Amino acid sequence: MHFNLKGLLIRNGFFLDANRPQIYINLYTAFKKAILNRSLETGSKLPPSRVLANDLGISRSTVLKAIDLLLVENYVVSKKGSGYYVCPPQDKKIKLNFSAIEKKGGYPTLSKKGRAFGNNAKWMVEDNNTGVAFRPGLPPLDIFPVQIWKKLIDEYWKHTTPSELSYCNTIGLQCLRENLSHYLRVYRDIHCHPDQIIITTGSLHSLYLVANVLLEQNDEVIVEDPTYPMAHNLFKSLGASICTAQVDAEGLNLSTICCQHPKFVYTTPSCQYPLGIKMSMKRRRDVLKWAAQKETYVIEDDYNHEFSNWEKPLGSLYGMAPQQRVIYLGTFNKLIHPSLRLGYMIVPDQLMDAVIGLYKQSSRFASRENQKAMSTFIEKDYLNKHLRRVIDTATERKEVFVHHFNTVLGDSFSLDHNSLGLHLIAHNKLNTTDTFVEQKLLQHNIRVHALSKYHIGPNSANGMVMGFCSVNPKQIKETIQNMGNVIEQLKI
Ligand SMILES: Cc1ncc(COP(=O)(O)O)c(C=O)c1O
Repeated sequence: MHFNLKGLLIRNGFFLDANRPQIYINLYTAFKKAILNRSLETGSKLPPSRVLANDLGISRSTVLKAIDLLLVENYVVSKKGSGYYVCPPQDKKIKLNFSAIEKKGGYPTLSKKGRAFGNNAKWMVEDNNTGVAFRPGLPPLDIFPVQIWKKLIDEYWKHTTPSELSYCNTIGLQCLRENLSHYLRVYRDIHCHPDQIIITTGSLHSLYLVANVLLEQNDEVIVEDPTYPMAHNLFKSLGASICTAQVDAEGLNLSTICCQHPKFVYTTPSCQYPLGIKMSMKRRRDVLKWAAQKETYVIEDDYNHEFSNWEKPLGSLYGMAPQQRVIYLGTFNKLIHPSLRLGYMIVPDQLMDAVIGLYKQSSRFASRENQKAMSTFIEKDYLNKHLRRVIDTATERKEVFVHHFNTVLGDSFSLDHNSLGLHLIAHNKLNTTDTFVEQKLLQHNIRVHALSKYHIGPNSANGMVMGFCSVNPKQIKETIQNMGNVIEQLKI
């Protein structure tokens, strides 16, 4: 790739004056300055002299003369058959120092919402790819059928027309919404028209859209405690007044809740996050009855339904609701992989225009290429095949995980195996906090999430939330062994 460096060189003093002799000196000086102030990074390749000459409107011999000077002074190096590369600048005098950039006078202030988003940006630990084991919320990443997906993407590019590269429908491709409506009918007892489905980039995106169109400052929102921290952070950033609801063996319990006019209750009935409890039938009826009495909405985050409903299937709250009170959020990012960024939602008719309006005025639509590939993935039954493989793999890995965890760490933690999701919770028997354990393990590239961080406000939780199936059995065993070594050190 050859950048056109004309603008960069002009910013560094290059000017073209046909009347001036020795343009090459001016070009050399501009290059030198750009290298010293790191506008041209060490190791970057210069465009070929022919391209440079063409871009700058000067002769190639002028360019070559300037490059010769740079070579002599070691600002660039020539690699045979490859080109010229920028060397590390020796002279540090003009080095750009970001902290030295002048900040003069005042700047417009952030909005209240802007400040809140900044302040609430904390997540468990930084999002990066280190320590995939045992990050919660990941499917078996190593069995994703890469070759099939690649074939579907190749197909897409073979048939796509130039006009299809333009903007597309915000609510998503018709074919994907049709295939999805069939999928949701079978698995979630959701009977909806494809036009009621909105394709997003994931559950969090859907939640962002819904929460934004519903919430005013200080509006009451009911949240399970513990809950998905990103959802809690989002509601806080939007200025909501958070009311917490207990979770017991039957799931969300609204009987003790104390609030006046909640805008919605946010719940994860298929698999309470992070406790992994499935909401009982009675509680589902209670929640829907309560929502009708309070004239409010229920946001059903069905992030994990494929896994938690495999053995003992239970339909969705949405499917049970006769009134338009349930906002349904689903995602492919959990079943396929999180970097896919495809989710879906169904909102009551009265919210549709506002949600689509906000979506259009912000992120437009999800990647067409991925939408098309996903649609064919469902249509050709690859999704069901993959789902069966994921279930089998997760079952096998759970056994391996539980066995090795109890063998190596049974003295220090008690593992709760009842969770229905792809993660397990281990309660800490040591005299340490879970945040300390989380931090220590991360130093060894082992990622677990501290249970206490899922709670809202002060709490006595002390445990680790661990995804058990993103890596293969060998890596599971090795990682647990490493965990054992780290935990032994903590006991000393
Ligand atoms: C309960 C819950 N809801 C939603 C999400 C977000 O899913 P997505 O990646 O589709 O935005 C997560 C991700 O971890 C989650 O745990």
